[in-house]
Amino acid sequence: MSTDTADALREQVRERYAEAARAVTTGGSGCCGDSGSADFGESLYSAEQRDELPDAAALASLGCGNPTAVAELREGEVVLDLGSGGGIDVILSARRVGPTGVAYGVDMTDEMLALAQQNARDAGISNVHFLKGEIEAVPLAAESVDVVISNCVINLSTDKAAVLTEMARVLRPGGRLGISDIVAEDHLTPAERAERGSWCGCVAGALSRAEYVAGLEAAGFEEVSVEFTYEVATGMHGAVVKAVKSA
Ligand SMILES: C[S@@+](CC[C@H](N)C(=O)[O-])C[C@H]1O[C@@H](n2cnc3c(N)ncnc32)[C@H](O)[C@@H]1O
Repeated sequence: MSTDTADALREQVRERYAEAARAVTTGGSGCCGDSGSADFGESLYSAEQRDELPDAAALASLGCGNPTAVAELREGEVVLDLGSGGGIDVILSARRVGPTGVAYGVDMTDEMLALAQQNARDAGISNVHFLKGEIEAVPLAAESVDVVISNCVINLSTDKAAVLTEMARVLRPGGRLGISDIVAEDHLTPAERAERGSWCGCVAGALSRAEYVAGLEAAGFEEVSVEFTYEVATGMHGAVVKAVKSA
């Protein structure tokens, strides 16, 4: 992809999610699927988890999975959420890791960062930090994180190899990934993926399962698994991605 195309796509993504952040307060639905559908958004969280959240944080959920359920977080851990949006997974993670742990969210969209900060205040959570940045160049030190989570964001990146490399850089050896994302079946070409949905809608830019596995292994991960959980379009799936950084 040319630099101009990548810059234009990133700008489209940013504008789309700025609009989504503004729409939360007026009751709009998400871009990464319809947040009212069973496959996207707040319905992916248990009633118990939703009870831990301010209404606006739950309504702001634009994800396609529940990475906090995947990652099995432990007390005292440092968690990083890539593309943290309205902050739902950061707030839930902060509660799981407790006061001795910390949860970071990174997002490139100012409106989302403001919404997440407001949601964390409303939730009464203080062990969270929302950082402005791009997931292709994470503003955190090397080997400073125990767990990287992400919910329906990596498919939006125009440089996925950089994202996978950044995840490996910030994780401590033995650190782990718990990611929800949209993933294509291996036989679908990039053109066929684009026919099934837009880049901003989390479909056109999706990696295939084999691309995900190869990319994570090349970045220094082992025990890689990509498990399809539900089909969002023909040959395109909500998926759970797990891996461990080689020790
Ligand atoms: C589909 S929403 C998901 C938000 C959140 N993870 C959730 O589950 O509700 C995508 C989010 O990722 C952010 N994002 C997309 N591409 C990004 C990038 N390259 N760097 C940083 N943030 C990005 C957007 O601003 C938006 O907040």
